[in-house]
Amino acid sequence: MSEEIKIIDDLPGVGPVTAEKLRAAGFTTIESIAVSSPMELREVAEITEPTGAKIIAAARKAADVGGFISGEEVFERRQTIGRITSGSKRLDDLIGGGFETQAIVEAFGEFGSGKSQIAHQLAVTVQLPKERGGLDACAALIDTENTFRPERVMQIAKFLEMDPKEALRNIHVARAFNSSHQILLAERAEELFEKLGCKLLIVDSLTSMFRAEFVGRGTLAERQQKLGMHLRQLHKIANLYDSCVFVTNQVSSKPDAFFGDPTRPVGGHVLGHSATIRIYLRKSKQGQRIARLVDSPSLPEGEALFMVTENGITDK
Ligand code: GTP
Ligand code: MG
Repeated sequence: MSEEIKIIDDLPGVGPVTAEKLRAAGFTTIESIAVSSPMELREVAEITEPTGAKIIAAARKAADVGGFISGEEVFERRQTIGRITSGSKRLDDLIGGGFETQAIVEAFGEFGSGKSQIAHQLAVTVQLPKERGGLDACAALIDTENTFRPERVMQIAKFLEMDPKEALRNIHVARAFNSSHQILLAERAEELFEKLGCKLLIVDSLTSMFRAEFVGRGTLAERQQKLGMHLRQLHKIANLYDSCVFVTNQVSSKPDAFFGDPTRPVGGHVLGHSATIRIYLRKSKQGQRIARLVDSPSLPEGEALFMVTENGITDK
Protein backbone atom coordinates (compact mmCIF):
# COMPACT_ATOMS: atom_id res chain seq x y z
CA MET A 1 0.00 0.00 0.00
CA SER A 2 2.81 2.40 0.84
CA GLU A 3 4.10 2.13 -2.76
CA GLU A 4 1.01 3.98 -3.92
CA ILE A 5 1.58 6.97 -1.66
CA LYS A 6 4.23 9.09 -3.35
CA ILE A 7 3.00 12.66 -2.99
CA ILE A 8 0.83 14.28 -0.36
CA ASP A 9 -2.19 14.22 -2.71
CA ASP A 10 -2.11 10.41 -2.47
CA LEU A 11 -2.80 10.44 1.27
CA PRO A 12 -6.32 9.32 2.22
CA GLY A 13 -8.37 12.35 3.27
CA VAL A 14 -6.25 14.83 1.28
CA GLY A 15 -8.15 16.30 -1.67
CA PRO A 16 -6.70 18.78 -4.17
CA VAL A 17 -7.79 21.84 -2.17
CA THR A 18 -6.32 20.51 1.08
CA ALA A 19 -3.14 19.45 -0.72
CA GLU A 20 -2.74 22.98 -2.03
CA LYS A 21 -3.20 24.49 1.43
CA LEU A 22 -0.70 22.06 2.89
CA ARG A 23 1.85 22.83 0.20
CA ALA A 24 1.38 26.55 0.67
CA ALA A 25 2.21 26.07 4.36
CA GLY A 26 5.38 24.18 3.55
CA PHE A 27 4.10 20.61 3.93
CA THR A 28 5.37 19.53 0.56
CA THR A 29 6.43 15.95 1.23
CA ILE A 30 5.05 12.81 2.84
CA GLU A 31 7.91 13.07 5.35
CA SER A 32 6.90 16.57 6.43
CA ILE A 33 3.35 15.34 7.13
CA ALA A 34 4.67 12.28 8.96
CA VAL A 35 6.44 14.44 11.53
CA SER A 36 3.64 16.98 11.94
CA SER A 37 0.82 17.05 14.49
CA PRO A 38 -3.00 17.05 13.99
CA MET A 39 -3.06 20.50 15.58
CA GLU A 40 -0.65 21.89 13.01
CA LEU A 41 -2.67 20.44 10.15
CA ARG A 42 -5.84 21.90 11.59
CA GLU A 43 -4.22 25.29 11.79
CA VAL A 44 -2.80 25.41 8.26
CA ALA A 45 -5.42 23.47 6.29
CA GLU A 46 -8.58 23.37 8.44
CA ILE A 47 -8.44 19.61 8.72
CA THR A 48 -10.30 18.27 11.78
CA GLU A 49 -7.99 16.67 14.32
CA PRO A 50 -9.34 13.09 13.92
CA THR A 51 -8.88 13.33 10.14
CA GLY A 52 -5.46 14.89 10.69
CA ALA A 53 -4.48 11.96 12.89
CA LYS A 54 -5.48 9.52 10.14
CA ILE A 55 -3.57 11.46 7.49
CA ILE A 56 -0.46 11.53 9.68
CA ALA A 57 -0.77 7.80 10.41
CA ALA A 58 -0.90 7.05 6.68
CA ALA A 59 2.05 9.38 6.02
CA ARG A 60 4.07 7.62 8.71
CA LYS A 61 3.48 4.27 7.10
CA ALA A 62 4.51 5.59 3.69
CA ALA A 63 7.37 7.88 4.73
CA ASP A 64 10.99 7.19 4.15
CA VAL A 65 12.32 7.76 7.64
CA GLY A 66 15.77 6.29 7.08
CA GLY A 67 17.08 3.06 8.56
CA PHE A 68 18.95 1.94 11.63
CA ILE A 69 22.72 1.71 11.58
CA SER A 70 24.95 0.19 14.23
CA GLY A 71 26.51 2.20 17.03
CA GLU A 72 29.87 1.24 15.59
CA GLU A 73 28.96 2.87 12.29
CA VAL A 74 27.88 6.01 14.11
CA PHE A 75 31.22 5.98 15.94
CA GLU A 76 33.18 5.54 12.71
CA ARG A 77 31.27 8.34 11.08
CA ARG A 78 32.08 10.62 13.99
CA GLN A 79 35.79 9.91 13.56
CA THR A 80 35.67 11.76 10.24
CA ILE A 81 34.32 14.97 11.80
CA GLY A 82 36.33 18.03 10.79
CA ARG A 83 36.86 21.08 12.98
CA ILE A 84 37.20 24.77 12.23
CA THR A 85 39.00 27.07 14.66
CA SER A 86 37.30 30.25 15.87
CA GLY A 87 40.63 31.94 16.55
CA SER A 88 40.05 31.59 20.29
CA LYS A 89 41.49 28.48 21.88
CA ARG A 90 39.14 28.85 24.83
CA LEU A 91 36.06 29.05 22.62
CA ASP A 92 37.30 26.10 20.54
CA ASP A 93 37.88 24.03 23.68
CA LEU A 94 34.42 24.83 25.00
CA ILE A 95 32.88 23.13 21.98
CA GLY A 96 35.22 20.18 21.88
CA GLY A 97 38.05 21.57 19.74
CA GLY A 98 36.47 23.89 17.19
CA PHE A 99 33.31 24.25 15.13
CA GLU A 100 32.53 20.77 13.89
CA THR A 101 31.29 19.36 10.62
CA GLN A 102 28.24 17.10 10.39
CA ALA A 103 26.58 19.52 12.78
CA ILE A 104 24.51 22.64 13.02
CA VAL A 105 26.08 25.06 15.46
CA GLU A 106 23.81 27.82 16.68
CA ALA A 107 25.04 31.00 18.32
CA PHE A 108 22.33 33.00 20.04
CA GLY A 109 22.58 36.22 21.95
CA GLU A 110 21.58 39.84 21.89
CA PHE A 111 22.72 42.49 19.36
CA GLY A 112 26.45 43.06 19.34
CA SER A 113 27.17 39.86 21.23
CA GLY A 114 29.50 38.65 18.47
CA LYS A 115 27.39 36.29 16.36
CA SER A 116 28.22 37.91 13.02
CA GLN A 117 31.84 38.38 14.06
CA ILE A 118 32.17 34.64 14.59
CA ALA A 119 30.51 34.13 11.21
CA HIS A 120 33.11 36.35 9.47
CA GLN A 121 35.91 34.65 11.35
CA LEU A 122 34.85 31.10 10.46
CA ALA A 123 34.35 32.06 6.81
CA VAL A 124 38.06 32.87 6.80
CA THR A 125 39.48 30.16 9.07
CA VAL A 126 37.69 27.33 7.23
CA GLN A 127 40.06 28.19 4.36
CA LEU A 128 43.17 27.56 6.44
CA PRO A 129 45.05 24.29 6.02
CA LYS A 130 44.19 21.54 8.53
CA GLU A 131 47.32 22.04 10.59
CA ARG A 132 46.28 25.63 11.22
CA GLY A 133 42.75 24.75 12.27
CA GLY A 134 40.95 24.97 8.94
CA LEU A 135 39.56 22.53 6.42
CA ASP A 136 41.22 23.96 3.33
CA ALA A 137 37.80 24.68 1.85
CA CYS A 138 35.43 27.46 0.78
CA ALA A 139 32.48 28.90 2.68
CA ALA A 140 28.95 29.89 1.73
CA LEU A 141 26.98 32.57 3.51
CA ILE A 142 23.28 33.36 3.45
CA ASP A 143 23.04 36.93 4.67
CA THR A 144 19.55 37.96 5.79
CA GLU A 145 20.45 41.20 7.56
CA ASN A 146 22.92 42.68 5.11
CA THR A 147 25.69 42.54 7.68
CA PHE A 148 28.37 40.80 5.62
CA ARG A 149 31.43 43.10 5.45
CA PRO A 150 34.18 42.22 2.98
CA GLU A 151 36.48 44.69 4.75
CA ARG A 152 36.15 42.70 7.94
CA VAL A 153 37.05 39.50 6.09
CA MET A 154 40.15 41.20 4.68
CA GLN A 155 41.23 42.42 8.14
CA ILE A 156 40.89 38.93 9.62
CA ALA A 157 42.66 37.32 6.65
CA LYS A 158 45.57 39.77 6.86
CA PHE A 159 46.05 39.00 10.53
CA LEU A 160 46.21 35.30 9.66
CA GLU A 161 48.74 36.06 6.91
CA MET A 162 46.39 34.98 4.17
CA ASP A 163 45.81 36.74 0.86
CA PRO A 164 42.79 38.98 1.64
CA LYS A 165 41.44 38.94 -1.93
CA GLU A 166 41.78 35.19 -2.13
CA ALA A 167 39.93 34.89 1.18
CA LEU A 168 37.07 36.93 -0.27
CA ARG A 169 36.98 34.84 -3.44
CA ASN A 170 36.44 31.72 -1.34
CA ILE A 171 33.35 33.09 0.37
CA HIS A 172 30.14 32.74 -1.63
CA VAL A 173 27.58 35.23 -0.41
CA ALA A 174 23.85 35.38 -1.10
CA ARG A 175 21.52 37.98 0.27
CA ALA A 176 18.11 36.59 1.32
CA PHE A 177 15.14 38.90 0.90
CA ASN A 178 12.48 36.90 2.73
CA SER A 179 12.08 33.55 4.44
CA SER A 180 11.02 31.70 1.28
CA HIS A 181 14.04 33.08 -0.54
CA GLN A 182 16.22 32.00 2.37
CA ILE A 183 14.83 28.46 2.15
CA LEU A 184 15.44 28.42 -1.60
CA LEU A 185 19.02 29.67 -1.19
CA ALA A 186 19.76 26.85 1.26
CA GLU A 187 18.59 24.39 -1.37
CA ARG A 188 20.77 26.11 -3.99
CA ALA A 189 23.74 26.07 -1.65
CA GLU A 190 23.96 22.33 -2.14
CA GLU A 191 25.47 22.96 -5.56
CA LEU A 192 28.39 24.84 -4.02
CA PHE A 193 29.05 22.01 -1.64
CA GLU A 194 28.85 19.42 -4.35
CA LYS A 195 30.85 21.30 -7.02
CA LEU A 196 33.32 23.31 -4.96
CA GLY A 197 33.61 21.19 -1.84
CA CYS A 198 32.76 24.02 0.56
CA LYS A 199 32.81 22.95 4.21
CA LEU A 200 30.98 25.77 5.94
CA LEU A 201 27.49 27.15 5.46
CA ILE A 202 26.58 30.23 7.45
CA VAL A 203 23.03 31.47 7.89
CA ASP A 204 23.20 34.90 9.52
CA SER A 205 20.57 35.23 10.81
CA LEU A 206 18.57 32.03 10.72
CA THR A 207 15.48 33.50 12.33
CA SER A 208 15.21 37.23 11.55
CA MET A 209 13.09 36.81 8.41
CA PHE A 210 10.81 34.31 10.09
CA ARG A 211 10.49 36.58 13.08
CA ALA A 212 9.56 39.55 10.91
CA GLU A 213 7.12 37.71 8.66
CA PHE A 214 5.24 35.52 11.08
CA VAL A 215 3.91 37.80 13.74
CA GLY A 216 1.25 36.80 16.22
CA ARG A 217 0.01 33.57 17.70
CA GLY A 218 -2.01 32.33 14.73
CA THR A 219 1.09 32.12 12.58
CA LEU A 220 3.19 30.12 14.99
CA ALA A 221 2.48 26.71 13.48
CA GLU A 222 3.32 27.90 10.00
CA ARG A 223 6.50 29.59 11.13
CA GLN A 224 7.72 26.52 12.98
CA GLN A 225 6.79 24.34 10.05
CA LYS A 226 8.80 26.43 7.60
CA LEU A 227 11.70 26.77 9.97
CA GLY A 228 11.63 23.02 10.49
CA MET A 229 11.77 22.43 6.76
CA HIS A 230 14.68 24.87 6.42
CA LEU A 231 16.55 23.12 9.23
CA ARG A 232 16.07 19.72 7.64
CA GLN A 233 17.76 21.11 4.53
CA LEU A 234 20.60 22.50 6.66
CA HIS A 235 21.05 19.16 8.40
CA LYS A 236 21.18 17.50 5.02
CA ILE A 237 24.02 19.78 3.90
CA ALA A 238 25.86 19.22 7.18
CA ASN A 239 25.66 15.46 6.94
CA LEU A 240 25.80 14.78 3.23
CA TYR A 241 28.75 17.10 2.56
CA ASP A 242 30.48 16.64 5.92
CA SER A 243 30.15 20.38 6.58
CA CYS A 244 29.64 22.72 9.46
CA VAL A 245 26.45 24.76 9.37
CA PHE A 246 26.76 27.85 11.54
CA VAL A 247 23.53 29.71 12.26
CA THR A 248 22.84 32.81 14.32
CA ASN A 249 19.75 33.67 16.27
CA GLN A 250 19.07 36.93 18.04
CA VAL A 251 17.51 37.10 21.45
CA SER A 252 16.45 40.42 22.81
CA SER A 253 17.28 41.64 26.29
CA LYS A 254 14.09 43.69 26.26
CA PRO A 255 10.69 42.18 26.89
CA ASP A 256 9.09 41.27 23.59
CA ALA A 257 5.39 40.57 23.79
CA PHE A 258 5.20 38.45 20.66
CA PHE A 259 7.69 35.84 21.61
CA GLY A 260 7.24 35.11 25.28
CA ASP A 261 10.41 34.84 27.33
CA PRO A 262 12.79 37.34 25.67
CA THR A 263 15.94 35.54 26.67
CA ARG A 264 14.87 32.41 24.87
CA PRO A 265 15.94 32.01 21.24
CA VAL A 266 13.32 32.74 18.62
CA GLY A 267 12.96 29.35 17.01
CA GLY A 268 11.56 27.73 20.12
CA HIS A 269 11.25 24.00 20.04
CA VAL A 270 11.92 23.42 16.36
CA LEU A 271 15.35 24.96 16.61
CA GLY A 272 16.00 23.69 20.12
CA HIS A 273 15.75 20.11 19.02
CA SER A 274 17.47 20.57 15.73
CA ALA A 275 20.63 22.48 16.50
CA THR A 276 23.36 20.09 17.48
CA ILE A 277 25.48 22.55 19.42
CA ARG A 278 24.12 25.75 20.89
CA ILE A 279 26.21 28.59 22.26
CA TYR A 280 24.74 31.49 24.18
CA LEU A 281 26.82 34.68 23.76
CA ARG A 282 26.81 37.71 25.95
CA LYS A 283 28.79 40.91 26.18
CA SER A 284 31.18 41.55 29.00
CA LYS A 285 33.52 44.43 29.71
CA GLN A 286 36.14 45.85 27.31
CA GLY A 287 35.38 43.90 24.18
CA GLN A 288 35.15 40.64 26.07
CA ARG A 289 32.48 38.12 25.27
CA ILE A 290 31.26 35.15 27.25
CA ALA A 291 30.16 32.01 25.45
CA ARG A 292 28.12 29.43 27.29
CA LEU A 293 27.51 25.98 25.93
CA VAL A 294 23.85 25.03 26.22
CA ASP A 295 22.37 21.53 26.21
CA SER A 296 25.02 19.73 24.20
CA PRO A 297 24.55 15.97 23.81
CA SER A 298 28.11 14.98 24.69
CA LEU A 299 30.04 17.98 26.01
CA PRO A 300 30.07 19.29 29.57
CA GLU A 301 28.27 22.60 30.11
CA GLY A 302 30.63 25.48 30.68
CA GLU A 303 31.70 28.97 29.71
CA ALA A 304 34.56 30.50 27.77
CA LEU A 305 35.84 34.05 27.63
CA PHE A 306 36.94 35.43 24.27
CA MET A 307 37.54 38.80 22.64
CA VAL A 308 36.27 40.54 19.54
CA THR A 309 39.20 42.62 18.31
CA GLU A 310 40.30 44.37 15.16
CA ASN A 311 42.12 41.16 14.23
CA GLY A 312 39.00 39.06 14.68
CA ILE A 313 38.15 36.59 17.42
CA THR A 314 41.00 35.98 19.86
CA ASP A 315 41.68 34.81 23.40
CA LYS A 316 43.03 38.09 24.64
P1 GTP B 1 23.18 41.43 15.81
O1 GTP B 1 23.41 40.93 14.43
O2 GTP B 1 22.84 42.86 15.87
O3 GTP B 1 22.18 40.58 16.57
O4 GTP B 1 24.54 41.30 16.64
P2 GTP B 1 25.77 40.32 16.47
O5 GTP B 1 25.78 39.39 17.63
O6 GTP B 1 25.83 39.72 15.13
O7 GTP B 1 26.97 41.33 16.69
P3 GTP B 1 28.33 41.38 15.88
O8 GTP B 1 28.92 40.04 15.80
O9 GTP B 1 28.14 42.12 14.62
O10 GTP B 1 29.21 42.22 16.87
C1 GTP B 1 29.37 43.60 16.71
C2 GTP B 1 30.38 44.04 17.74
O11 GTP B 1 31.65 43.47 17.45
C3 GTP B 1 30.60 45.52 17.73
O12 GTP B 1 29.69 46.15 18.60
C4 GTP B 1 32.02 45.63 18.26
O13 GTP B 1 31.99 45.58 19.65
C5 GTP B 1 32.66 44.35 17.77
N1 GTP B 1 33.50 44.62 16.60
C6 GTP B 1 33.16 44.54 15.30
N2 GTP B 1 34.18 44.87 14.49
C7 GTP B 1 35.21 45.18 15.31
C8 GTP B 1 36.55 45.63 15.10
O14 GTP B 1 37.01 45.82 13.98
N3 GTP B 1 37.31 45.86 16.21
C9 GTP B 1 36.84 45.65 17.46
N4 GTP B 1 37.63 45.88 18.51
N5 GTP B 1 35.57 45.24 17.70
C10 GTP B 1 34.77 45.02 16.65
MG1 MG C 1 24.75 40.02 13.41
